[in-house]
Amino acid sequence: MGARVDPVPVACRPARPEDADAIARIYNQGIEDRSATFETRPRSGAEVAEWLANPVVVAEDAGAILGYGALFPTSARPCYAGVLELAVYVARDGRGRGVGRALGEALLQAAEAAGAWKIVGKLFLENHASASLVRSLGFREVGVHRHHARLDGAWRDVLLVERLLGDAREG
Ligand SMILES: CC(C)(COP(=O)(O)OP(=O)(O)OC[C@H]1O[C@@H](n2cnc3c(N)ncnc32)[C@H](O)[C@@H]1OP(=O)(O)O)[C@@H](O)C(=O)NCCC(=O)NCCS
Repeated sequence: MGARVDPVPVACRPARPEDADAIARIYNQGIEDRSATFETRPRSGAEVAEWLANPVVVAEDAGAILGYGALFPTSARPCYAGVLELAVYVARDGRGRGVGRALGEALLQAAEAAGAWKIVGKLFLENHASASLVRSLGFREVGVHRHHARLDGAWRDVLLVERLLGDAREG
């Protein structure tokens, strides 16, 4: 991860089907970096298009997609329908300029609009940028899953974070 540079103007909007290839390209950079996900298989635009059944937002500047944020179900059980997991990925050359923060704020709004009451996140312990991002969005640290899965054959620990929304924040 690089040093902070000047912020870029960021407009976030709901993702459209024609954004799928750009989203896949950005996700595949994250996969290659081995810093954000246990996934190792690159995704196609067609696969990413299926994500759009969920809340997905993109950050755009002058027609270019700089990053995306998505909220995925955490369980098929109806009682957990309001617990969503976030993913935020910014293109390599756009990181550290406020894009992730803007996407995170757009996701919080999208989650409230979808009636969710909690967003969870699972972060690699070494991923300081993602830890800073969720902290600045008001997430709290729940704990650490030890040896949650293997990446390239090596056990990795995962930091679990959560943020309550709406009525769930009271009491
Ligand atoms: C993690 C990621 C989404 C953050 O987005 P970003 O646009 O780079 O971050 P921003 O510039 O919006 O900064 C958000 C916060 O993180 C902090 N931050 C950014 N880069 C950082 C770094 N390299 N180290 C430590 N903190 C960092 C910023 O200071 C800011 O904190 P603040 O609001 O308290 O000032 C982005 O770096 C990324 O896409 N990384 C690869 C994929 C990934 O790790 N995704 C997270 C898994 S869900």
